[in-house]
Amino acid sequence: MEGFFIEKHIVVPTINDVTWAQEVSSWTVEASKNGVVMPNGELKPTMLPKTLEQVLGLFSYGWSMIVETEGLAVAHAAITFEWPEGWLEIGGVVTKKEYRKLGYASMAVNALMVMVKHNFPDKKLFALCNSLSLPLFIGLGGVVSEGKELPSEVWKECENCSNFVRARAAGKLCCDTPVNMTLADMR
Ligand SMILES: CC(C)(COP(=O)(O)OP(=O)(O)OC[C@H]1O[C@@H](n2cnc3c(N)ncnc32)[C@H](O)[C@@H]1OP(=O)(O)O)[C@@H](O)C(=O)NCCC(=O)NCCS
Repeated sequence: MEGFFIEKHIVVPTINDVTWAQEVSSWTVEASKNGVVMPNGELKPTMLPKTLEQVLGLFSYGWSMIVETEGLAVAHAAITFEWPEGWLEIGGVVTKKEYRKLGYASMAVNALMVMVKHNFPDKKLFALCNSLSLPLFIGLGGVVSEGKELPSEVWKECENCSNFVRARAAGKLCCDTPVNMTLADMR
């Protein structure tokens, strides 16, 4: 029996790709309405919603990757922050609901890693993962860390998080899991 092959491409969107930005924004809004279970059993929003303007902002840097299949955008990942000491944060990782568990987010994150390692070989990469994205980042060779190697500015954001007090009480810098992607191999 002949197999079939679904074509999929990585596209680097630009600020003119407004329809895709609307799509990506809508996926983040949908994801933000769901929760992931924290180690203490509480539900925390899966991810923060991103507005159209925020997504277009990411597109404008050329640091977003979209996976396109059969003419549709299905997954997104981006460099969302440039931190001191050469650290870049991978974020905005989201896949259209019906297309999850097919390797699309892994493909987008891997493409980002290839782009960064090629264009900015001295930069270091990390992600703050929830329980849904953690296996994906580990699968790409990421190393779970306590986050102590990351600049203190990263943790300033956490002070506005509802889980801040509990995370610190548990001896953690953040309620998400820091994963160092700097030494991960690319596929
Ligand atoms: C987290 C998220 C982005 C993952 O997207 P995804 O496209 O499903 O991710 P992938 O398919 O690349 O990998 C997810 C799983 O599918 C598996 N997978 C990869 N390719 C596969 C394939 N061809 N067939 C079956 N499974 C596959 C991966 O091994 C992984 O499995 P695991 O979680 O059991 O280890 C998606 O669940 C999502 O959008 N969630 C809401 C937003 C969110 O939480 N973002 C992260 C914020 S930190």
